[in-house]
Amino acid sequence: MKQANIRNFSIIAHIDHGKSTLADQIMAQTHTITPRESKAQLLDDMAVEQAHGITVKSRTVRNYYTADDGQHYEYNFIDTPGHVDFSYEVAKSLAASDGAILLVDATQGVQAQTVANFRIAKQNGLVIIPVINKIDSAAADIPRTTAQIKQLDPALEKATILKISAKTGEGVHDVLEAIKAVIPAPDGHKTAPLKALVFDYQYNAYKGIIAYVRIIDGQLKRDDAALLMAKNTKLSVSELGHFAPNMVPEASLTVGDVGYVVTGLKDPQAVRVGDTLTLINQPAKLALAGYQPAKAMVFAGFYPKDGNYSDLKAAIEKLALNDAAFQFKPENSEALGAGFRCGFLGMLHLQIIRERLQKEYDLDVLTTAPNVTYQVYLKGTSEPMIVTNPIKYPDFATIDHVAEPFVKAEITTPSELLNDVMKLAEQHKGTLLDMNNQADLVVLTYKMPISEIAYDFFNQLKSISHGYATLDTSPLDYEVADLVKIEVDINYAPVDALAFVAHRQDAPRLTQALVKKLKYTVPRKLYAMPVQAIVEGKAIARVDVPPLRKNAAVAGGKKSVSKKQALLRRQSMNKRQAAKNTIVLPQEVFNAVLELD
Ligand code: GTP
Repeated sequence: MKQANIRNFSIIAHIDHGKSTLADQIMAQTHTITPRESKAQLLDDMAVEQAHGITVKSRTVRNYYTADDGQHYEYNFIDTPGHVDFSYEVAKSLAASDGAILLVDATQGVQAQTVANFRIAKQNGLVIIPVINKIDSAAADIPRTTAQIKQLDPALEKATILKISAKTGEGVHDVLEAIKAVIPAPDGHKTAPLKALVFDYQYNAYKGIIAYVRIIDGQLKRDDAALLMAKNTKLSVSELGHFAPNMVPEASLTVGDVGYVVTGLKDPQAVRVGDTLTLINQPAKLALAGYQPAKAMVFAGFYPKDGNYSDLKAAIEKLALNDAAFQFKPENSEALGAGFRCGFLGMLHLQIIRERLQKEYDLDVLTTAPNVTYQVYLKGTSEPMIVTNPIKYPDFATIDHVAEPFVKAEITTPSELLNDVMKLAEQHKGTLLDMNNQADLVVLTYKMPISEIAYDFFNQLKSISHGYATLDTSPLDYEVADLVKIEVDINYAPVDALAFVAHRQDAPRLTQALVKKLKYTVPRKLYAMPVQAIVEGKAIARVDVPPLRKNAAVAGGKKSVSKKQALLRRQSMNKRQAAKNTIVLPQEVFNAVLELD
Protein backbone atom coordinates (compact mmCIF):
# COMPACT_ATOMS: atom_id res chain seq x y z
CA MET A 1 0.00 0.00 0.00
CA LYS A 2 1.22 3.50 -0.86
CA GLN A 3 2.22 5.36 2.29
CA ALA A 4 -0.03 8.28 1.31
CA ASN A 5 -3.01 5.91 1.45
CA ILE A 6 -2.47 4.55 4.96
CA ARG A 7 -4.47 5.89 7.92
CA ASN A 8 -3.87 4.88 11.55
CA PHE A 9 -6.66 5.81 13.96
CA SER A 10 -8.37 5.03 17.26
CA ILE A 11 -11.91 5.52 18.52
CA ILE A 12 -12.23 7.36 21.81
CA ALA A 13 -15.52 7.35 23.65
CA HIS A 14 -17.24 7.15 27.01
CA ILE A 15 -18.22 3.64 28.06
CA ASP A 16 -21.23 2.26 26.12
CA HIS A 17 -21.26 5.12 23.63
CA GLY A 18 -20.83 2.51 20.87
CA LYS A 19 -17.12 2.09 20.22
CA SER A 20 -17.26 -1.69 19.63
CA THR A 21 -20.40 -1.36 17.50
CA LEU A 22 -18.73 1.26 15.30
CA ALA A 23 -15.54 -0.82 15.03
CA ASP A 24 -17.67 -3.78 13.90
CA GLN A 25 -19.54 -1.60 11.44
CA ILE A 26 -16.26 -0.31 9.97
CA MET A 27 -15.04 -3.90 9.55
CA ALA A 28 -18.35 -4.88 7.96
CA GLN A 29 -18.52 -1.90 5.55
CA THR A 30 -14.90 -2.47 4.45
CA HIS A 31 -15.63 -6.21 4.07
CA THR A 32 -12.96 -7.16 6.61
CA ILE A 33 -15.60 -9.36 8.20
CA THR A 34 -18.89 -10.74 6.92
CA PRO A 35 -22.19 -9.31 8.25
CA ARG A 36 -22.73 -12.55 10.18
CA GLU A 37 -19.40 -12.21 11.98
CA SER A 38 -20.08 -8.58 12.78
CA LYS A 39 -23.05 -9.51 14.96
CA ALA A 40 -20.74 -11.37 17.33
CA GLN A 41 -18.92 -8.21 18.51
CA LEU A 42 -15.60 -9.71 17.51
CA LEU A 43 -13.46 -7.30 19.40
CA ASP A 44 -14.74 -8.23 22.85
CA ASP A 45 -14.27 -11.98 22.84
CA MET A 46 -12.26 -12.61 25.98
CA ALA A 47 -14.33 -14.17 28.74
CA VAL A 48 -13.12 -11.69 31.35
CA GLU A 49 -13.88 -8.77 29.09
CA GLN A 50 -17.42 -9.92 28.75
CA ALA A 51 -17.82 -10.43 32.47
CA HIS A 52 -16.63 -6.88 33.15
CA GLY A 53 -18.06 -5.33 30.02
CA ILE A 54 -14.77 -3.56 29.39
CA THR A 55 -11.94 -4.03 26.98
CA VAL A 56 -8.82 -5.37 28.63
CA LYS A 57 -6.46 -5.72 25.68
CA SER A 58 -6.02 -3.36 22.75
CA ARG A 59 -6.51 -4.96 19.41
CA THR A 60 -5.56 -3.66 16.08
CA VAL A 61 -7.43 -4.50 12.89
CA ARG A 62 -6.43 -3.65 9.34
CA ASN A 63 -9.26 -2.80 6.93
CA TYR A 64 -9.01 -2.08 3.19
CA TYR A 65 -11.27 0.68 2.02
CA THR A 66 -12.11 1.75 -1.52
CA ALA A 67 -13.02 5.40 -1.20
CA ASP A 68 -15.43 7.47 -3.31
CA ASP A 69 -12.38 8.83 -5.15
CA GLY A 70 -11.76 5.30 -6.43
CA GLN A 71 -8.50 4.93 -4.53
CA HIS A 72 -7.67 2.07 -2.16
CA TYR A 73 -6.74 2.83 1.42
CA GLU A 74 -5.34 0.86 4.34
CA TYR A 75 -7.23 1.73 7.52
CA ASN A 76 -5.54 0.51 10.68
CA PHE A 77 -7.94 0.70 13.59
CA ILE A 78 -6.30 0.58 17.01
CA ASP A 79 -8.66 -0.35 19.84
CA THR A 80 -8.39 1.48 23.14
CA PRO A 81 -9.67 0.34 26.52
CA GLY A 82 -11.91 2.60 28.54
CA HIS A 83 -11.12 2.01 32.19
CA VAL A 84 -8.92 4.06 34.47
CA ASP A 85 -6.72 1.12 35.43
CA PHE A 86 -5.86 0.88 31.80
CA SER A 87 -5.35 4.53 30.94
CA TYR A 88 -1.73 3.64 30.17
CA GLU A 89 -3.06 1.41 27.41
CA VAL A 90 -5.07 4.33 26.04
CA ALA A 91 -1.93 6.46 25.93
CA LYS A 92 0.01 3.54 24.43
CA SER A 93 -2.38 2.84 21.57
CA LEU A 94 -2.94 6.53 20.93
CA ALA A 95 0.81 6.94 20.46
CA ALA A 96 0.55 4.54 17.50
CA SER A 97 -2.32 6.55 15.92
CA ASP A 98 -2.36 9.73 13.85
CA GLY A 99 -6.01 10.54 14.46
CA ALA A 100 -9.02 9.65 16.56
CA ILE A 101 -12.76 9.42 16.14
CA LEU A 102 -14.37 11.12 19.13
CA LEU A 103 -17.63 9.21 19.48
CA VAL A 104 -20.48 10.69 21.55
CA ASP A 105 -23.82 9.00 22.29
CA ALA A 106 -26.65 11.38 21.25
CA THR A 107 -28.88 10.07 24.02
CA GLN A 108 -26.34 10.87 26.74
CA GLY A 109 -24.23 13.69 25.36
CA VAL A 110 -20.65 14.47 26.34
CA GLN A 111 -19.68 12.46 29.42
CA ALA A 112 -16.70 12.51 31.71
CA GLN A 113 -14.74 9.83 29.83
CA THR A 114 -15.33 11.75 26.59
CA VAL A 115 -13.60 14.75 28.14
CA ALA A 116 -10.79 12.71 29.72
CA ASN A 117 -10.00 10.74 26.53
CA PHE A 118 -10.24 13.85 24.40
CA ARG A 119 -7.56 15.43 26.58
CA ILE A 120 -5.19 12.45 26.18
CA ALA A 121 -5.71 12.49 22.39
CA LYS A 122 -5.03 16.21 22.24
CA GLN A 123 -1.86 15.83 24.31
CA ASN A 124 -0.72 13.20 21.77
CA GLY A 125 -1.31 15.69 18.94
CA LEU A 126 -3.97 13.56 17.24
CA VAL A 127 -6.37 14.93 14.63
CA ILE A 128 -9.92 14.54 15.94
CA ILE A 129 -13.07 13.62 13.98
CA PRO A 130 -16.12 14.36 16.16
CA VAL A 131 -18.99 11.91 15.60
CA ILE A 132 -22.44 11.76 17.18
CA ASN A 133 -23.75 8.17 17.51
CA LYS A 134 -27.16 6.55 18.09
CA ILE A 135 -29.12 9.05 15.97
CA ASP A 136 -31.63 6.24 15.30
CA SER A 137 -32.67 6.28 18.96
CA ALA A 138 -35.88 8.07 19.97
CA ALA A 139 -34.00 9.56 22.94
CA ALA A 140 -31.31 11.17 20.74
CA ASP A 141 -30.82 14.89 21.37
CA ILE A 142 -28.62 15.95 18.49
CA PRO A 143 -28.68 19.76 18.99
CA ARG A 144 -27.69 19.44 22.65
CA THR A 145 -24.92 16.92 21.91
CA THR A 146 -23.61 19.12 19.09
CA ALA A 147 -23.44 22.13 21.41
CA GLN A 148 -21.60 20.11 24.05
CA ILE A 149 -18.99 18.85 21.57
CA LYS A 150 -18.36 22.40 20.32
CA GLN A 151 -17.81 23.56 23.90
CA LEU A 152 -15.14 20.88 24.49
CA ASP A 153 -12.40 22.75 22.67
CA PRO A 154 -12.04 25.86 20.51
CA ALA A 155 -10.72 23.62 17.72
CA LEU A 156 -14.04 21.76 17.63
CA GLU A 157 -16.21 24.87 17.33
CA LYS A 158 -15.89 24.96 13.56
CA ALA A 159 -15.34 21.24 12.96
CA THR A 160 -17.85 19.24 10.92
CA ILE A 161 -19.66 16.93 13.30
CA LEU A 162 -20.82 13.68 11.68
CA LYS A 163 -24.08 12.05 12.73
CA ILE A 164 -24.35 8.28 12.58
CA SER A 165 -26.00 5.14 13.83
CA ALA A 166 -23.31 2.54 14.40
CA LYS A 167 -26.14 0.06 14.88
CA THR A 168 -27.90 0.50 11.53
CA GLY A 169 -24.80 1.67 9.67
CA GLU A 170 -26.39 5.00 8.71
CA GLY A 171 -23.75 7.71 8.21
CA VAL A 172 -20.82 5.33 8.75
CA HIS A 173 -19.79 5.79 5.11
CA ASP A 174 -19.21 9.49 5.91
CA VAL A 175 -16.92 8.46 8.76
CA LEU A 176 -14.91 6.26 6.39
CA GLU A 177 -14.60 9.18 3.96
CA ALA A 178 -13.63 11.60 6.76
CA ILE A 179 -10.84 9.30 7.99
CA LYS A 180 -9.18 9.54 4.57
CA ALA A 181 -9.80 13.28 4.20
CA VAL A 182 -8.94 14.52 7.70
CA ILE A 183 -6.41 12.16 9.31
CA PRO A 184 -2.89 12.62 7.92
CA ALA A 185 -1.01 9.78 6.25
CA PRO A 186 1.92 8.54 8.32
CA ASP A 187 5.18 10.42 7.81
CA GLY A 188 8.50 8.56 7.93
CA HIS A 189 10.92 7.25 5.31
CA LYS A 190 10.88 3.86 3.66
CA THR A 191 14.63 3.92 2.97
CA ALA A 192 15.68 5.06 6.45
CA PRO A 193 16.92 2.47 8.99
CA LEU A 194 14.01 0.53 10.50
CA LYS A 195 12.30 2.05 13.52
CA ALA A 196 9.20 0.18 14.69
CA LEU A 197 7.32 1.20 17.83
CA VAL A 198 6.29 -1.74 20.00
CA PHE A 199 2.95 -0.58 21.45
CA ASP A 200 1.66 -3.87 22.80
CA TYR A 201 2.43 -7.57 22.84
CA GLN A 202 0.82 -10.91 23.42
CA TYR A 203 2.10 -14.32 24.40
CA ASN A 204 1.20 -17.30 22.29
CA ALA A 205 1.94 -20.81 23.55
CA TYR A 206 3.19 -21.91 20.12
CA LYS A 207 4.76 -18.77 18.70
CA GLY A 208 6.23 -17.14 21.80
CA ILE A 209 5.99 -13.38 22.17
CA ILE A 210 4.12 -11.57 19.42
CA ALA A 211 4.92 -7.84 19.34
CA TYR A 212 2.36 -5.33 18.02
CA VAL A 213 4.25 -2.70 16.05
CA ARG A 214 3.78 0.47 14.10
CA ILE A 215 6.52 0.99 11.51
CA ILE A 216 7.72 4.58 11.91
CA ASP A 217 10.65 4.39 9.41
CA GLY A 218 11.97 1.69 7.07
CA GLN A 219 10.79 -1.82 6.30
CA LEU A 220 10.74 -5.20 8.01
CA LYS A 221 10.73 -8.53 6.19
CA ARG A 222 10.27 -12.14 7.15
CA ASP A 223 13.55 -13.77 8.30
CA ASP A 224 15.15 -10.37 9.01
CA ALA A 225 17.65 -10.35 11.86
CA ALA A 226 16.22 -7.70 14.18
CA LEU A 227 17.12 -5.98 17.42
CA LEU A 228 15.06 -4.63 20.32
CA MET A 229 16.98 -1.53 21.30
CA ALA A 230 16.15 -1.17 25.03
CA LYS A 231 18.13 -4.25 26.05
CA ASN A 232 19.93 -5.12 22.81
CA THR A 233 17.81 -8.25 22.41
CA LYS A 234 18.48 -10.00 19.10
CA LEU A 235 15.75 -11.93 17.32
CA SER A 236 14.85 -13.47 14.01
CA VAL A 237 11.50 -12.52 12.48
CA SER A 238 9.90 -15.89 11.80
CA GLU A 239 6.53 -14.43 10.85
CA LEU A 240 4.97 -11.00 10.48
CA GLY A 241 1.67 -9.63 9.24
CA HIS A 242 -1.51 -7.80 10.20
CA PHE A 243 -4.75 -8.50 12.07
CA ALA A 244 -8.04 -8.83 10.18
CA PRO A 245 -9.03 -9.38 13.05
CA ASN A 246 -7.15 -12.70 13.12
CA MET A 247 -3.47 -12.86 12.25
CA VAL A 248 -2.78 -12.69 8.50
CA PRO A 249 0.88 -13.39 7.60
CA GLU A 250 2.64 -11.18 5.03
CA ALA A 251 6.11 -10.99 3.49
CA SER A 252 6.88 -7.53 4.87
CA LEU A 253 5.62 -4.53 6.83
CA THR A 254 6.59 -1.10 5.61
CA VAL A 255 6.58 2.51 6.78
CA GLY A 256 3.19 3.50 8.23
CA ASP A 257 1.95 -0.09 8.62
CA VAL A 258 0.57 -1.47 11.86
CA GLY A 259 0.89 -5.19 12.43
CA TYR A 260 2.47 -7.99 14.39
CA VAL A 261 5.90 -9.57 14.56
CA VAL A 262 6.49 -13.09 15.84
CA THR A 263 9.72 -12.62 17.77
CA GLY A 264 10.39 -16.22 18.74
CA LEU A 265 11.35 -14.86 22.17
CA LYS A 266 10.05 -16.76 25.17
CA ASP A 267 11.43 -14.62 27.98
CA PRO A 268 8.72 -12.20 29.12
CA GLN A 269 11.33 -9.65 30.13
CA ALA A 270 12.69 -9.44 26.58
CA VAL A 271 9.87 -7.38 25.06
CA ARG A 272 8.86 -4.05 26.56
CA VAL A 273 6.08 -1.73 25.52
CA GLY A 274 7.60 1.45 24.12
CA ASP A 275 10.69 -0.37 22.86
CA THR A 276 12.08 0.23 19.36
CA LEU A 277 12.61 -2.63 16.92
CA THR A 278 15.38 -2.10 14.37
CA LEU A 279 17.55 -4.22 12.03
CA ILE A 280 20.90 -5.68 13.08
CA ASN A 281 22.54 -4.94 9.69
CA GLN A 282 21.31 -1.37 9.40
CA PRO A 283 20.38 -0.25 12.92
CA ALA A 284 18.67 3.05 13.74
CA LYS A 285 21.01 5.49 15.49
CA LEU A 286 18.49 6.56 18.11
CA ALA A 287 15.58 4.69 19.64
CA LEU A 288 12.12 6.28 19.59
CA ALA A 289 11.20 8.23 22.68
CA GLY A 290 9.58 5.44 24.71
CA TYR A 291 6.61 6.29 26.80
CA GLN A 292 6.34 5.65 30.50
CA PRO A 293 6.28 1.95 31.25
CA ALA A 294 3.18 0.93 33.14
CA LYS A 295 4.01 1.08 36.80
CA ALA A 296 2.56 -1.21 39.41
CA MET A 297 0.88 0.89 42.09
CA VAL A 298 -0.70 -1.77 44.25
CA PHE A 299 0.94 -4.89 45.61
CA ALA A 300 -0.59 -7.98 47.18
CA GLY A 301 0.44 -11.54 47.96
CA PHE A 302 -1.00 -14.46 45.95
CA TYR A 303 -0.87 -17.88 47.60
CA PRO A 304 -2.19 -21.21 46.33
CA LYS A 305 -5.38 -22.17 48.12
CA ASP A 306 -4.85 -25.89 47.81
CA GLY A 307 -1.12 -25.72 48.29
CA ASN A 308 -0.31 -26.32 44.62
CA TYR A 309 2.52 -23.85 44.19
CA SER A 310 3.83 -25.07 40.84
CA ASP A 311 0.44 -24.73 39.09
CA LEU A 312 0.12 -21.18 40.41
CA LYS A 313 3.66 -20.38 39.30
CA ALA A 314 3.04 -21.63 35.76
CA ALA A 315 -0.25 -19.72 35.49
CA ILE A 316 1.19 -16.46 36.84
CA GLU A 317 4.15 -16.65 34.46
CA LYS A 318 1.81 -17.08 31.51
CA LEU A 319 -0.50 -14.25 32.58
CA ALA A 320 2.45 -11.89 32.94
CA LEU A 321 3.37 -12.56 29.32
CA ASN A 322 0.08 -11.10 28.14
CA ASP A 323 -0.07 -8.26 30.58
CA ALA A 324 2.80 -5.81 30.56
CA ALA A 325 1.62 -4.13 33.74
CA PHE A 326 1.37 -7.25 35.90
CA GLN A 327 4.51 -8.03 37.94
CA PHE A 328 5.39 -10.82 40.31
CA LYS A 329 8.19 -12.26 42.40
CA PRO A 330 8.32 -15.21 44.81
CA GLU A 331 7.73 -14.57 48.52
CA ASN A 332 7.18 -16.58 51.65
CA SER A 333 4.72 -16.18 54.47
CA GLU A 334 4.84 -18.03 57.78
CA ALA A 335 1.08 -18.37 57.70
CA LEU A 336 0.62 -19.30 54.05
CA GLY A 337 3.91 -20.78 52.87
CA ALA A 338 5.32 -20.13 49.40
CA GLY A 339 3.55 -17.66 47.14
CA PHE A 340 4.08 -14.53 45.10
CA ARG A 341 4.21 -10.81 45.69
CA CYS A 342 2.35 -9.34 42.74
CA GLY A 343 2.18 -5.77 41.44
CA PHE A 344 -0.94 -4.26 39.82
CA LEU A 345 -2.10 -0.98 38.32
CA GLY A 346 -4.98 -0.82 40.78
CA MET A 347 -7.63 -2.91 42.48
CA LEU A 348 -9.62 -3.60 39.32
CA HIS A 349 -6.47 -4.96 37.70
CA LEU A 350 -5.95 -7.19 40.75
CA GLN A 351 -9.52 -8.50 40.52
CA ILE A 352 -9.18 -9.18 36.79
CA ILE A 353 -5.97 -11.17 37.32
CA ARG A 354 -7.66 -13.17 40.08
CA GLU A 355 -10.60 -13.91 37.82
CA ARG A 356 -8.38 -14.90 34.92
CA LEU A 357 -6.54 -17.34 37.20
CA GLN A 358 -9.89 -18.75 38.19
CA LYS A 359 -11.50 -18.92 34.75
CA GLU A 360 -8.56 -19.67 32.49
CA TYR A 361 -6.47 -21.82 34.82
CA ASP A 362 -9.06 -23.09 37.28
CA LEU A 363 -6.98 -21.82 40.21
CA ASP A 364 -8.24 -20.23 43.39
CA VAL A 365 -5.73 -17.98 45.11
CA LEU A 366 -5.55 -16.55 48.60
CA THR A 367 -5.00 -12.83 48.27
CA THR A 368 -3.50 -10.74 51.04
CA ALA A 369 -4.24 -7.09 51.87
CA PRO A 370 -3.02 -4.74 49.13
CA ASN A 371 -0.48 -2.03 49.80
CA VAL A 372 1.60 0.55 47.93
CA THR A 373 5.38 1.08 47.92
CA TYR A 374 6.78 2.84 51.00
CA GLN A 375 10.11 4.61 51.43
CA VAL A 376 11.17 3.87 54.99
CA TYR A 377 14.02 5.99 56.40
CA LEU A 378 15.65 4.20 59.31
CA LYS A 379 17.23 6.21 62.13
CA GLY A 380 20.72 7.35 61.23
CA THR A 381 20.35 6.60 57.50
CA SER A 382 19.80 8.93 54.57
CA GLU A 383 18.87 6.35 51.92
CA PRO A 384 15.37 4.93 52.20
CA MET A 385 14.53 1.26 52.42
CA ILE A 386 11.91 0.38 49.75
CA VAL A 387 9.11 -1.69 51.23
CA THR A 388 6.45 -3.31 49.03
CA ASN A 389 5.45 -5.95 51.54
CA PRO A 390 4.09 -5.23 55.06
CA ILE A 391 5.81 -8.40 56.29
CA LYS A 392 9.13 -6.66 55.60
CA TYR A 393 8.12 -3.36 57.23
CA PRO A 394 10.80 -2.63 59.84
CA ASP A 395 10.18 -2.38 63.59
CA PHE A 396 8.70 1.01 64.54
CA ALA A 397 11.46 1.72 67.05
CA THR A 398 14.07 1.74 64.25
CA ILE A 399 12.12 4.06 61.91
CA ASP A 400 12.89 7.75 61.60
CA HIS A 401 10.19 8.64 59.06
CA VAL A 402 8.26 7.13 56.14
CA ALA A 403 7.24 8.53 52.75
CA GLU A 404 4.48 7.27 50.47
CA PRO A 405 3.72 7.88 46.78
CA PHE A 406 1.24 10.54 45.68
CA VAL A 407 -0.67 10.99 42.43
CA LYS A 408 -2.25 13.85 40.58
CA ALA A 409 -5.88 12.84 40.23
CA GLU A 410 -7.99 14.55 37.59
CA ILE A 411 -11.66 13.99 38.26
CA THR A 412 -14.19 15.00 35.63
CA THR A 413 -17.71 15.23 37.01
CA PRO A 414 -21.11 16.68 36.10
CA SER A 415 -21.33 20.04 37.92
CA GLU A 416 -24.41 19.11 39.96
CA LEU A 417 -22.36 16.43 41.74
CA LEU A 418 -19.49 18.78 42.54
CA ASN A 419 -20.12 18.90 46.30
CA ASP A 420 -20.37 15.14 46.74
CA VAL A 421 -17.26 14.51 44.68
CA MET A 422 -15.26 17.14 46.58
CA LYS A 423 -16.36 15.66 49.88
CA LEU A 424 -15.25 12.20 48.77
CA ALA A 425 -11.85 13.47 47.61
CA GLU A 426 -11.31 15.26 50.92
CA GLN A 427 -12.23 12.14 52.88
CA HIS A 428 -9.48 10.44 50.91
CA LYS A 429 -6.89 13.05 51.91
CA GLY A 430 -7.05 14.92 48.60
CA THR A 431 -5.61 18.45 48.32
CA LEU A 432 -7.36 20.50 45.64
CA LEU A 433 -4.86 21.91 43.13
CA ASP A 434 -7.10 23.18 40.34
CA MET A 435 -10.70 23.44 39.18
CA ASN A 436 -11.96 24.02 35.62
CA ASN A 437 -15.38 24.23 34.00
CA GLN A 438 -16.03 22.46 30.74
CA ALA A 439 -19.59 22.61 29.38
CA ASP A 440 -21.77 21.09 32.17
CA LEU A 441 -18.76 19.33 33.60
CA VAL A 442 -16.11 20.30 36.11
CA VAL A 443 -12.53 19.04 35.99
CA LEU A 444 -11.03 18.87 39.50
CA THR A 445 -7.32 18.30 40.04
CA TYR A 446 -6.24 16.83 43.37
CA LYS A 447 -3.02 15.68 44.95
CA MET A 448 -3.72 12.41 46.78
CA PRO A 449 -1.82 9.51 48.31
CA ILE A 450 -1.94 6.50 45.95
CA SER A 451 -2.95 4.38 48.93
CA GLU A 452 -6.19 6.37 49.14
CA ILE A 453 -6.98 6.10 45.45
CA ALA A 454 -5.81 2.61 44.61
CA TYR A 455 -8.31 0.62 46.63
CA ASP A 456 -11.91 1.61 46.50
CA PHE A 457 -11.91 5.27 45.54
CA PHE A 458 -12.82 4.67 41.92
CA ASN A 459 -15.82 2.50 42.86
CA GLN A 460 -16.99 5.06 45.38
CA LEU A 461 -16.63 7.82 42.81
CA LYS A 462 -18.63 5.76 40.29
CA SER A 463 -21.24 5.05 42.89
CA ILE A 464 -21.83 8.62 44.10
CA SER A 465 -21.81 9.90 40.52
CA HIS A 466 -23.95 7.03 39.14
CA GLY A 467 -21.13 6.24 36.75
CA TYR A 468 -20.86 9.77 35.38
CA ALA A 469 -17.54 10.89 36.89
CA THR A 470 -14.15 9.78 35.58
CA LEU A 471 -10.72 9.60 37.08
CA ASP A 472 -7.33 9.95 35.43
CA THR A 473 -4.15 9.73 37.48
CA SER A 474 -0.50 10.52 36.91
CA PRO A 475 2.28 9.85 39.42
CA LEU A 476 3.75 12.60 41.60
CA ASP A 477 6.63 12.26 44.04
CA TYR A 478 6.83 10.61 47.47
CA GLU A 479 5.87 12.67 50.51
CA VAL A 480 6.34 12.10 54.22
CA ALA A 481 3.29 10.57 55.88
CA ASP A 482 2.38 9.36 59.34
CA LEU A 483 2.07 5.64 58.70
CA VAL A 484 1.95 2.63 60.99
CA LYS A 485 2.10 -1.11 60.46
CA ILE A 486 -0.91 -2.95 61.80
CA GLU A 487 -0.22 -6.50 62.90
CA VAL A 488 -2.94 -9.01 63.51
CA ASP A 489 -2.56 -11.72 66.16
CA ILE A 490 -4.91 -14.68 66.27
CA ASN A 491 -4.75 -16.58 69.52
CA TYR A 492 -1.62 -14.59 70.48
CA ALA A 493 0.28 -15.63 67.36
CA PRO A 494 0.96 -12.99 64.70
CA VAL A 495 -0.40 -13.87 61.25
CA ASP A 496 2.13 -12.23 58.97
CA ALA A 497 -0.04 -12.37 55.86
CA LEU A 498 -2.72 -10.25 57.57
CA ALA A 499 -0.38 -7.33 58.38
CA PHE A 500 -0.99 -4.05 56.58
CA VAL A 501 0.15 -0.42 56.62
CA ALA A 502 -2.25 2.48 57.23
CA HIS A 503 -2.32 6.17 58.11
CA ARG A 504 -2.08 6.50 61.89
CA GLN A 505 -5.26 8.58 62.10
CA ASP A 506 -7.24 5.81 60.36
CA ALA A 507 -5.81 2.96 62.44
CA PRO A 508 -8.45 2.93 65.24
CA ARG A 509 -11.39 2.95 62.79
CA LEU A 510 -9.84 0.36 60.47
CA THR A 511 -8.81 -2.03 63.22
CA GLN A 512 -12.24 -1.87 64.92
CA ALA A 513 -13.90 -2.72 61.62
CA LEU A 514 -11.36 -5.45 60.96
CA VAL A 515 -11.63 -7.33 64.25
CA LYS A 516 -15.43 -7.21 63.99
CA LYS A 517 -15.25 -8.89 60.61
CA LEU A 518 -12.66 -11.41 61.79
CA LYS A 519 -14.89 -12.44 64.68
CA TYR A 520 -17.20 -14.12 62.17
CA THR A 521 -14.70 -15.24 59.54
CA VAL A 522 -11.86 -16.84 61.53
CA PRO A 523 -12.75 -20.56 61.74
CA ARG A 524 -13.88 -21.40 65.25
CA LYS A 525 -12.05 -23.87 67.44
CA LEU A 526 -13.19 -25.64 70.58
CA TYR A 527 -11.75 -22.77 72.60
CA ALA A 528 -12.24 -19.01 72.45
CA MET A 529 -9.52 -17.19 70.50
CA PRO A 530 -8.65 -13.54 70.94
CA VAL A 531 -8.07 -11.61 67.72
CA GLN A 532 -5.99 -8.49 68.31
CA ALA A 533 -4.86 -5.65 66.10
CA ILE A 534 -1.49 -4.38 67.28
CA VAL A 535 0.09 -1.03 66.48
CA GLU A 536 3.58 -0.23 67.72
CA GLY A 537 3.46 -3.03 70.28
CA LYS A 538 0.04 -2.05 71.70
CA ALA A 539 -3.22 -3.89 71.07
CA ILE A 540 -5.66 -1.23 69.90
CA ALA A 541 -8.59 -3.47 69.01
CA ARG A 542 -9.69 -6.91 70.18
CA VAL A 543 -12.50 -9.42 69.87
CA ASP A 544 -12.84 -13.01 70.96
CA VAL A 545 -13.79 -15.58 68.37
CA PRO A 546 -16.35 -17.65 70.29
CA PRO A 547 -15.58 -21.34 70.88
CA LEU A 548 -17.26 -24.22 69.11
CA ARG A 549 -17.51 -25.80 72.57
CA LYS A 550 -20.62 -27.78 73.25
CA ASN A 551 -21.97 -26.68 76.55
CA ALA A 552 -21.47 -29.92 78.45
CA ALA A 553 -23.90 -28.94 81.15
CA VAL A 554 -26.71 -28.33 78.65
CA ALA A 555 -25.83 -30.54 75.71
CA GLY A 556 -25.32 -33.52 77.88
CA GLY A 557 -28.57 -33.00 79.78
CA LYS A 558 -29.40 -36.63 79.92
CA LYS A 559 -25.85 -37.84 80.34
CA SER A 560 -24.39 -38.99 83.61
CA VAL A 561 -22.31 -36.62 85.67
CA SER A 562 -19.12 -38.54 84.95
CA LYS A 563 -19.73 -38.36 81.18
CA LYS A 564 -20.18 -34.59 81.45
CA GLN A 565 -16.97 -34.35 83.38
CA ALA A 566 -15.14 -36.45 80.79
CA LEU A 567 -16.42 -34.15 78.03
CA LEU A 568 -15.28 -31.05 79.89
CA ARG A 569 -11.91 -32.64 80.54
CA ARG A 570 -11.45 -33.45 76.85
CA GLN A 571 -12.32 -29.90 75.94
CA SER A 572 -9.82 -28.44 78.34
CA MET A 573 -7.14 -30.75 77.00
CA ASN A 574 -7.94 -29.50 73.50
CA LYS A 575 -7.42 -26.03 74.86
CA ARG A 576 -3.92 -26.84 76.02
CA GLN A 577 -3.08 -28.35 72.69
CA ALA A 578 -4.47 -25.30 71.00
CA ALA A 579 -1.34 -23.20 71.13
CA LYS A 580 0.42 -25.77 68.95
CA ASN A 581 -2.40 -25.96 66.42
CA THR A 582 -1.99 -23.98 63.22
CA ILE A 583 -5.13 -22.32 62.01
CA VAL A 584 -5.95 -22.68 58.34
CA LEU A 585 -7.38 -19.37 57.24
CA PRO A 586 -9.96 -19.11 54.44
CA GLN A 587 -10.04 -16.30 51.88
CA GLU A 588 -12.88 -14.61 53.81
CA VAL A 589 -10.35 -13.73 56.51
CA PHE A 590 -8.15 -11.96 53.96
CA ASN A 591 -11.20 -10.39 52.36
CA ALA A 592 -11.84 -8.70 55.71
CA VAL A 593 -8.64 -6.71 55.13
CA LEU A 594 -9.10 -6.40 51.37
CA GLU A 595 -12.52 -4.85 51.81
CA LEU A 596 -11.68 -2.30 54.51
CA ASP A 597 -12.36 1.31 53.54
P1 GTP B 1 -17.45 -0.26 26.09
O1 GTP B 1 -16.64 -1.33 25.39
O2 GTP B 1 -18.10 -0.75 27.35
O3 GTP B 1 -16.75 1.05 26.21
O4 GTP B 1 -18.71 0.03 25.18
P2 GTP B 1 -18.70 0.53 23.73
O5 GTP B 1 -18.44 1.98 23.71
O6 GTP B 1 -17.85 -0.36 22.89
O7 GTP B 1 -20.22 0.35 23.36
P3 GTP B 1 -20.91 -0.80 22.53
O8 GTP B 1 -20.49 -0.77 21.10
O9 GTP B 1 -20.79 -2.09 23.27
O10 GTP B 1 -22.41 -0.27 22.58
C1 GTP B 1 -23.08 -0.08 23.81
C2 GTP B 1 -24.58 -0.28 23.59
O11 GTP B 1 -25.09 0.72 22.71
C3 GTP B 1 -24.91 -1.62 22.94
O12 GTP B 1 -26.06 -2.11 23.54
C4 GTP B 1 -25.14 -1.26 21.49
O13 GTP B 1 -26.03 -2.15 20.85
C5 GTP B 1 -25.74 0.12 21.61
N1 GTP B 1 -25.49 0.93 20.41
C6 GTP B 1 -24.31 1.15 19.82
N2 GTP B 1 -24.46 1.94 18.73
C7 GTP B 1 -25.79 2.22 18.65
C8 GTP B 1 -26.58 2.99 17.75
O14 GTP B 1 -26.14 3.58 16.79
N3 GTP B 1 -27.91 3.06 18.03
C9 GTP B 1 -28.47 2.44 19.08
N4 GTP B 1 -29.79 2.56 19.25
N5 GTP B 1 -27.76 1.69 19.94
C10 GTP B 1 -26.44 1.58 19.73
